[in-house]
Amino acid sequence: MNQVPIAVFASGGGSNFQALIDYEDNSSYHIVLLLTDRKQVGAIERAEKAGKHSEVLEQKGKSDQEIASQMKDLLEGYGVEFIVLAGYLRKIPPAVVSLYTGRMVNIHPALLPSFGGKGMYGRSVHKAVIEAGETISGPTVHYVDEDYDTGEIIAQALVPILEGDDPDSLSDKVLQAEHKLYPSTVHQLCSSLQ
Ligand code: GRF
Repeated sequence: MNQVPIAVFASGGGSNFQALIDYEDNSSYHIVLLLTDRKQVGAIERAEKAGKHSEVLEQKGKSDQEIASQMKDLLEGYGVEFIVLAGYLRKIPPAVVSLYTGRMVNIHPALLPSFGGKGMYGRSVHKAVIEAGETISGPTVHYVDEDYDTGEIIAQALVPILEGDDPDSLSDKVLQAEHKLYPSTVHQLCSSLQ
C-alpha cells in the first residue's frame, strides 16, 4: 500500500504522537517528520526511539513571514502531504493553512463547538467542562483553519463524566479516547487521499 507522508506537530509529551506511531504499520500514512516549537519536549524522545526525523522550529524573535517560510521549506523538504497537530500550541501561519486546506487536522480534548478557542487547552478545558455540569465529554478531530478550534468537525468520541470525576481523571479518560480516535481517523482521511 502507498502510504501518505505525514508530519506530526507537537509541543509536549506527545502521547498522541506515540499512538500514531504505534498504529502506523498497515495504515495509510507514514510519519516522515515530527515538528516541535522547542527543544525540550517528550515528543522528541519518542521520535528518536521510533527512528523518526524531528525538527525544532523555534519562533522567538522571528517574524510571522520568517516562520511561515521556514515551516514551508521544512514541509516541502520532507515531502509532507498531510499535517497532524497533536498538542501543538502555536498558531499555524495562514500561508501554511492555505497550502494544506483539507489536509491538516487537529485534536481537541472536548466536544467542539463547545469548550474551544484561545486559552482552552490542557487542564482548563476539563475544568470548564466539569464546572458547566456536563455529563459527557470527549475528543474532537477537526480540520484546521485560521482560527483556534473552529474548522469543520470530522470525528468525535464520547466519554461519560461520572460522579467524582475531576479535571485530572477526566483528562486521563479523554486522552485514552484520543489515542484510539486519532490514529484511526488519520488513517481514514489518508486512505481517501490515495
Ligand atoms: C491532547 O489533550 C490534545 O487533545 C491536545 O493536546 C494534548 C496533547 O497531548 N490538543 P499529548 O502531547 O499528545 O500527550
